[in-house]
Amino acid sequence: MNKRVELALNDQIEKEASSSQYYLAMASWAENNGLNGTAKFMYLHSDEERFHMLKLIKFVNERGGTAIVPAVGQPAINFENLETVFTLLLKHEIKVTESINNLVDVCLQEKDFSTHNFVQWYVSEQLEEEALARMFLDKLRLIDGDKGGMYMFDRDLENSAMQPTNPSGPTA
Ligand code: FEO
Repeated sequence: MNKRVELALNDQIEKEASSSQYYLAMASWAENNGLNGTAKFMYLHSDEERFHMLKLIKFVNERGGTAIVPAVGQPAINFENLETVFTLLLKHEIKVTESINNLVDVCLQEKDFSTHNFVQWYVSEQLEEEALARMFLDKLRLIDGDKGGMYMFDRDLENSAMQPTNPSGPTA
């Protein structure tokens, strides 16, 4: 496997692992603050990010590279409120999108078209994730800290089809 591509893929593995931990921390905070819908969303989102990481690990190893399982830092324990949580989520996803774009760029520079093809799945996934985070944030801005509104937001999220899909496994 091309070394620059391998390095960029391993960098992405670290980002997906960190994302998974970050959303797990948000899930735990939400659970401890009576926000069951948000907790459900974040637990599933955390699983989804782990699936993104596993898919990359498998790809690197199957292509003759060496996937590096990264150490990840301790995420935050407390968050100010729901709007902060979803603002941080969107910011984080924008950074992940930048990283995916960099990966696409490296693939093109190195003329690694099969990895480029593989990475397109992540390009589409990022579009969806950013759009979803923006939609939640728009709703929370409308609610503007109103407690009843936040209760309804969380309850809607608990019953929503907007929950991330539960990934079925690393080869799905
Ligand atoms: Fe896998 Fe949300 O980035």
